[in-house]
Amino acid sequence: MAVLVTGGAGYIGSHTIVELLEASIDVVVVDNYINSKPEALNRVQAITGKDLTFYEVDILDEKSMEQVFENHEIEAVIHFAGLKAVGESVALPLSYYHNNITGSIILFKLMNKYNVKRLVFSSSATVYGLSNPSPLTENLPLSTTNPYGTTKWMIEKILQDIYHADSTWQIVLLRYFNPIGAHESGLIGEDPNGIPNNLMPYVTQVGIGKRKQLGVFGKDYDTPDGTGVRDYIHVVDLAKGHLSALTYITKHKGIEAINLGTGNGHSVLEVIKTFEKANNVTIPYTFEKRRPGDIGTCYADVSKAKKLLGWVAKRSLEDMCRDAWRWQSMYPEGYVND
Ligand code: NAD
Ligand code: UD1
Repeated sequence: MAVLVTGGAGYIGSHTIVELLEASIDVVVVDNYINSKPEALNRVQAITGKDLTFYEVDILDEKSMEQVFENHEIEAVIHFAGLKAVGESVALPLSYYHNNITGSIILFKLMNKYNVKRLVFSSSATVYGLSNPSPLTENLPLSTTNPYGTTKWMIEKILQDIYHADSTWQIVLLRYFNPIGAHESGLIGEDPNGIPNNLMPYVTQVGIGKRKQLGVFGKDYDTPDGTGVRDYIHVVDLAKGHLSALTYITKHKGIEAINLGTGNGHSVLEVIKTFEKANNVTIPYTFEKRRPGDIGTCYADVSKAKKLLGWVAKRSLEDMCRDAWRWQSMYPEGYVND
């Protein structure tokens, strides 16, 4: 019996597989490496000293996907595979809907066919939209502002309908807040293509001298220091949340949306200061205009994760900054040169 991990070579997938292997769970990965490198999976094996099976397969390729279900006795799926760049999704909506929605439908059809009805799906706090107040609880009305977010919302809806048609499914929709940091070994981490869109990879690239300075997007939000507040969560805590979700679905039928965050908000300036202090590195910055589509404050109510999964995030913002920097310093070019 094995757990199928789609998109397992990516940032969150690779960290989650470390936790799965360390819990002695057999893992089969499919990834087309559109936003990752197979080297990440070699590193996962180096960290854990355990083997995993990986296929270079596009989840849109139904035939090859079916072969994976034929080759292995899959007991559950963790579905990370998807495109995730917000700006790109606005420019290329069809690519995003095709890859994320069609790819997911192909996967769910095969799961149904092979009677694999346990699923952990990567959703996002982006489904809470712009107007809900924090702390965000799972039962709030959802809305989205870009095609990427809409794919997450639509997949959640598709899975609700699948469960309503067949109540033997066991599904958890994990709504991630802002995953940052890297594995403590420094061997795996976030490896963005081109100019990073998100705060932490931009900060680490300024730290290493790849970028001159950070632009802080907005200083007039209704927050303690005027800069945006987010719920940053260490990627290793997030990965452990997947293990808890997997344990949960083996015991419970139904479909549950669950936030994975720390429940604490930190401002951009706090992140910069904590990073500088933790790593003894200076991050020059200037204030820029607000980024369109951004909100002032976004953090999770994490009581449902604690109650249902028995999971809480343990790592501090300082841990996140230190571990992100270790990965960036050890591998300034990410996985590129391997
Ligand atoms: P990532 O891009 O590092 O990982 C996604 C992986 O999926 C990549 O390895 C990519 O090559 C693969 N992939 C994409 N399309 C594929 C396809 N058609 N077939 C096979 N493989 C495919 O992203 P991540 O940060 O690890 O995110 C994982 C999941 O979590 C994504 O679904 C993402 O939308 C979601 N999520 C991420 C964040 C975040 O901040 N990183 C926040 C909320 C939700
Ligand atoms: C972004 C995405 C969101 C996605 C989330 C996690 C957008 C509009 N939203 O959210 O859909 O779910 O990432 O992947 O892209 N910041 C700066 N300078 C920078 C980068 C960011 O000041 O160079 C600020 C932002 O304004 C924000 C905070 O840092 O206040 C965090 O930004 P980011 O890491 O991009 O995450 P989100 O905005 O939460």
